[in-house]
Amino acid sequence: ARRTAAALVAAASLVAVAGPASAAPGSPGSPRFTDGSTSGGDPYFPAAGNGGYDVQHYGLDLSWAADGRLDGTAVVTLTATADLASFSLDLRGLTVSAVRVDGKPARYTQLPPGEDGRGGELVVQAAPKLRAGTTHEVTVVYGGYPGQPTDAEGALYGWVTFPDGVLVANEPEGAPTWFPVNDVPRDKATYDFRITVPEGKTAIANGEPVGEPTTTGGRTTFLWRATDPMASYLATASIGDYTATTRLGPDELPILDFVETGVTGDALTTTQASLALQPAMIDFFDGVFGPYPFTSFGSIVDDDTVEYALETQTRPVYSQVASETTVAHELAHQWVGNSVSPATWADIWLNEGFATYAQWMWTATRPGGATEQEQFDAVYAIPADDEFWSVVVADPGREGIFADAVYDRGAATLHALRTEIGDAAFGDLLRRWVTENADSTVTTADFVALAEQVSGRDLDALFTDWLYTPARPAGY
Ligand code: ARG
Ligand code: ZN
Repeated sequence: ARRTAAALVAAASLVAVAGPASAAPGSPGSPRFTDGSTSGGDPYFPAAGNGGYDVQHYGLDLSWAADGRLDGTAVVTLTATADLASFSLDLRGLTVSAVRVDGKPARYTQLPPGEDGRGGELVVQAAPKLRAGTTHEVTVVYGGYPGQPTDAEGALYGWVTFPDGVLVANEPEGAPTWFPVNDVPRDKATYDFRITVPEGKTAIANGEPVGEPTTTGGRTTFLWRATDPMASYLATASIGDYTATTRLGPDELPILDFVETGVTGDALTTTQASLALQPAMIDFFDGVFGPYPFTSFGSIVDDDTVEYALETQTRPVYSQVASETTVAHELAHQWVGNSVSPATWADIWLNEGFATYAQWMWTATRPGGATEQEQFDAVYAIPADDEFWSVVVADPGREGIFADAVYDRGAATLHALRTEIGDAAFGDLLRRWVTENADSTVTTADFVALAEQVSGRDLDALFTDWLYTPARPAGY
């Protein structure tokens, strides 16, 4: 039988029924304890995320072997938002050997992914049960061979193993391929990483290193700490053979770059030229969006490929080369996408349309670079009968979240808006959007409302044409 998300939810409640008996609903003086949902409620990825709690912090102790094995101990600090008899974490392709809640061994069940490869749940029986508002430490000991996981479109993502290391890029719901997680952008948390690898390899995660790496018995341990709230799709812990370069950005912002030794020739020349521009790019985007939102920045350039780059928080990852426009794009995502994140995956144009438009703005500052209008015109020149215009940008469908239109029509939407409301209002809008929504999640409706407020205009027709109509807007 096909395991739909609904079946997973049903299976999870059956498991929970087998657990310790809950207080009878309504029995005198006893709260109602429920089984936390195994769904975070995302319409495209219902198996991602969970209900009944909010994570504050992930402490991830990861050990990687050259044969591709990953062993982990995750300490998840979470606060119950409901009275819970059981709750779940997303985890797939890895086997759990122990769970403890506040240090006490807990009963648990693992539910496999559905036939579509999505999902995978670790359901934990809480004994004692968790009362709403209380904070707990959930320890999960697990391990296995992640191999090369793929997303709903068949692209490599998550913990992707290569012969010389690991490239980690979770978007949209690949984090459960390497740690137990509440895998929805809404539940941001801080992270500590302790990553042990064969001596000679380097492990790079989000945030900043803590102390110097230590080596014993041929294994080296790296500590990283990310203190800014972070969505799980933006976590990374990439492993490889890197050359490190440190630069300083505006206001002494540390920029920590890591380029794998297998990046050579033209790819290396291009990469080095792009990375050298990061301080100037940060300065430029500070002006567009307001101050850079995190404690550090820098890039990870892998010599293997997943065919794309990802804006992993504070430290984007690149496949084989980092071009100037891609570096500008991934950097812009730190403001639009990472600090201000989409509430659901249907809203991904709030990431990609904005980062693409920011990239257009950077290009326009460069000698001989195309203006925003010229870049808009190139998109508008796509013939009206092209499939490109059939994508509904603000709801592109599960398989359409990375469609070209989400990027380019999304950016064109912002240019059309800028043309309509003028540069001054558009500039205010971008800054207010990022400042007022820092470290949280947003919807398209939030953006439309702010655009109308800042401009004092009714922008219904413009947004309907550009974001919600599967046709090329007329009259541009
Ligand atoms: N968010 C990334 C970027 O625009 C792209 C991720 C693409 N992922 C994929 N599976 N195709 O920089
Ligand atoms: Zn992007």
